[in-house]
Amino acid sequence: DMGGHDTYMHKEISEQADAVDRVLRGRIDDRFSTVHLGGLNLDPREARAIRRVKILGCGTSYHAGQIGAQMIEELARIPSDAEPASEFRYRNPVVDPDTLYIAVSQSGETYDVLAAVQELKRKGARVLGVVNVVGSAIARETHGGVYVHAGPEVCVVSTKCFTNTVVAFGLLALHLGRIRDLSVADGKRIIEGLRKLPGQIQEILAMEDEVKQLAAEYAEARSMMFIGRVRGYPVAREASLKLKEISYIHAEAYPASELKHGPLALIEPAMPTVAIVPDDDLLEKNRAAMEEIKARSGRILAVAHQKQDKADHTIVVPKNENELDPILMGIPLQLLAYHVALAMGRDIDKPRNLAKSVTVE
Ligand code: F6R
Repeated sequence: DMGGHDTYMHKEISEQADAVDRVLRGRIDDRFSTVHLGGLNLDPREARAIRRVKILGCGTSYHAGQIGAQMIEELARIPSDAEPASEFRYRNPVVDPDTLYIAVSQSGETYDVLAAVQELKRKGARVLGVVNVVGSAIARETHGGVYVHAGPEVCVVSTKCFTNTVVAFGLLALHLGRIRDLSVADGKRIIEGLRKLPGQIQEILAMEDEVKQLAAEYAEARSMMFIGRVRGYPVAREASLKLKEISYIHAEAYPASELKHGPLALIEPAMPTVAIVPDDDLLEKNRAAMEEIKARSGRILAVAHQKQDKADHTIVVPKNENELDPILMGIPLQLLAYHVALAMGRDIDKPRNLAKSVTVE
């Protein structure tokens, strides 16, 4: 049942405020400025002993994991990174007893992720899951974890589950942070930010008409560039994936700082750029990157917290705490991908060559 929407993708994009509400519900502990995660199965002594975090997933879940790794590193100060699960399992990784491994999956059935979890367990590692489907294979195989509670996702490409997964990582990062060295004041600040998310998501969804108008122009592009730095980079990667999956327009995502090391050669009027420009300590650096693109007559669409004079158009999104901004900045770009694909007449819920869950190698 599409509930009055023309596609599941549109329905699922539109449900994100409620979905985020669900992942937060019952978990916030104002008294200690932290969150309760019932199924984590990790006691405070164990949480304090973690020396590294390694996050494994595929596709969109891998991108959510990249944002998650940054959140854990920032809030809990544990060195963290994300890697595609398939790369991890094929490179005979060193499995370290002081590393916490986290498997991320919407379906909970992705074979490469499941196989990575099984290999890790065979070597004695501690593995948690950040999973949407309750009781799925990865949920059962992991030692504990955080359910994402996005609800059923029918469209082949992931939208609301991506957003909820990143919020689930925000909760996990806050939880680990408060067991380690995150102050009460910072805990409070993050909780306030989390509580603002559903309302801010509604504000972004209300900009759909504006995004739709832009989409008519971008549906003409043969290729697009997505750039961001640090917190904005995984957002750029996910937005680029979403566009290619449903519109079949070629898209690349690069860290803004890497442009001058090669991809700047691609910039010309027919190769528009989408720039993720949060109002944080890297704002000036991002402005400089946009200037470089302008100097090569590239067109720019910025997603930012204030109007960008270097961009041809800015989608202005509401500001949250710096650490939580990535949760919101991708949402208008889900709408952009959607409306570009719609303008091109694509089969949005079932893009060619793709399956919702990849249970083979
Ligand atoms: C992207 C997409 C895929 C999945 C990937 C992992 O829109 O749907 O990239 O994210 O196949 O699937 P899960 O999260 O079910 O493990």
